[in-house]
Amino acid sequence: MTTKKLLEKVTSSFEEKYKSTPVLTFSPGRINLIGEHTDYNDGFVFPAAIDKGIVSGIQKNDRSTCSVYALDAKTTYEFDKNDLKPLENGTWRNYVLGVVFEVVKKQKLNANFDIVFAGNIPSGSGLSSSAALENSIVFGLNELFDLKMTKEEMIFISQKAEHDFVQVKCGIMDQYASMFGQENSAILLDCRSLESTIFPVDFKNHEILLINSNVTHSLAESAYNERRNVCEKIAALLHVTALRDVSKENLKSIENQLTHEDYLKGLNVLEENERVLEASVALKENDLKRFGKLLFDSHNGLQHQYKVSCTELDFLVDLARQDTTVLGARMMGGGFGGCTINLVSKEHISEFKANVEQLYEKQFSKKCSFYQVKLSNGTHRVCPS
Ligand code: GLA
Repeated sequence: MTTKKLLEKVTSSFEEKYKSTPVLTFSPGRINLIGEHTDYNDGFVFPAAIDKGIVSGIQKNDRSTCSVYALDAKTTYEFDKNDLKPLENGTWRNYVLGVVFEVVKKQKLNANFDIVFAGNIPSGSGLSSSAALENSIVFGLNELFDLKMTKEEMIFISQKAEHDFVQVKCGIMDQYASMFGQENSAILLDCRSLESTIFPVDFKNHEILLINSNVTHSLAESAYNERRNVCEKIAALLHVTALRDVSKENLKSIENQLTHEDYLKGLNVLEENERVLEASVALKENDLKRFGKLLFDSHNGLQHQYKVSCTELDFLVDLARQDTTVLGARMMGGGFGGCTINLVSKEHISEFKANVEQLYEKQFSKKCSFYQVKLSNGTHRVCPS
C-alpha cells in the first residue's frame, strides 16, 4: 500500500472511531548499508530511512482514559497514561505504552488522547517497523501537546521504550535513522557522539534490492541481548566503556580469558567498525566494487564470527556471491531472519530475481519476497491534503 493510501486510511478510521481530526505523523523504516551490531558498542553504522513506514494519527480526548487502535490488527487497547507497566512479551502494545510511559515521566500532559496507527512495512522483515512505531508516537505526542522536545530527546525515549517495555536492549541506529533520514541519502553515524555525515547515494548502474527470507526466529530477541552482554563483558575486562575503545591488540591480550566463540564475536565488532569506515570512503570515491566486497565480508563476519545469521539468509547471500551481476550482499539488521541487502546491476535485476525466486523456493519450499525501496526523509508531521 502506498503511503498516501495509508494516510487516508488512518485519517478516515480515526474520524470514524473518535469523531475528531488527528495530528498525522509518518515515520519511516530503515535499511542499513553496513555496520551491524556496532551501534550498542558505541561504533559506526551506515543506515538510511526508506519510503515505507508507520502512519499514526493522534488527538486529545475528554474521556478519563487513553486509547490506541492498531488498524492492521483491528485491535483497540484502552489505558491509563499514569499507570503503565510492560505487558506480555511480543505484543505491539509495549512499543506504544513504553513511549507514553517515558513521555509522561518527563512531561506534563494536560489531557488524555487517542491513537490510530497502521503501516506498510512488511512485518518481520527487519526493516525496523518497531522504531518507526515508537518514533511516530513520540513525535505525534510532541506535536499534539507542543512539548518542545528535540529529535534527539525523542529517539532516546523510543530507545528506552524498547529497552524497558519490549525488553530488547537495542542500540540507537534504528531510531536515529527513522527520525533523521534524508531523501536519497544514507547517514554515516558515530553512535557514541551521534555525529553524522550525510552521503548522497547514487549507485549509478546498480541498485539496492532487498530480499526478504520471510523467516523470523522466535529466539532472536534473547540472542540479541546475549550478544550485547558478551560485548559488554569484553569491554569490562579491558576496563573501557565499549568495544569502540578496543584495538585488535587489546582484544588479543585477553584472548585466554575468553571462550573462542566470544573472542570471535568481539573481533567481529572491531572488524565491522573498520568496514563501515572503509565503505564510506569507497562510496565517496565511487568505488562500488570495493563497497560491494565489504558487504560480502560483513556477511561473512556476521555468519561465522558473530553468529547472527541463519541458513536461509546464508543461502540468499551465497546466490548473490555466485552471480557476477551482484556487487555485494549481506544479511541486514539484528539477524536470524528478515532481509538481505543486495547491490545488483540494474540491467540484470529481473534475471537475478527470477533465479533467486526459483532456487529459494526449491530449497526451502517457501517464497522469498523482493523490495526496491527509495531512501527518504525521516519522521515528520503530515498535513492532510
Ligand atoms: C537491531 C537493533 C539495532 C542494531 C541492529 C543490528 O535492528 O534495533 O539497534 O543493533 O539490530 O545492527
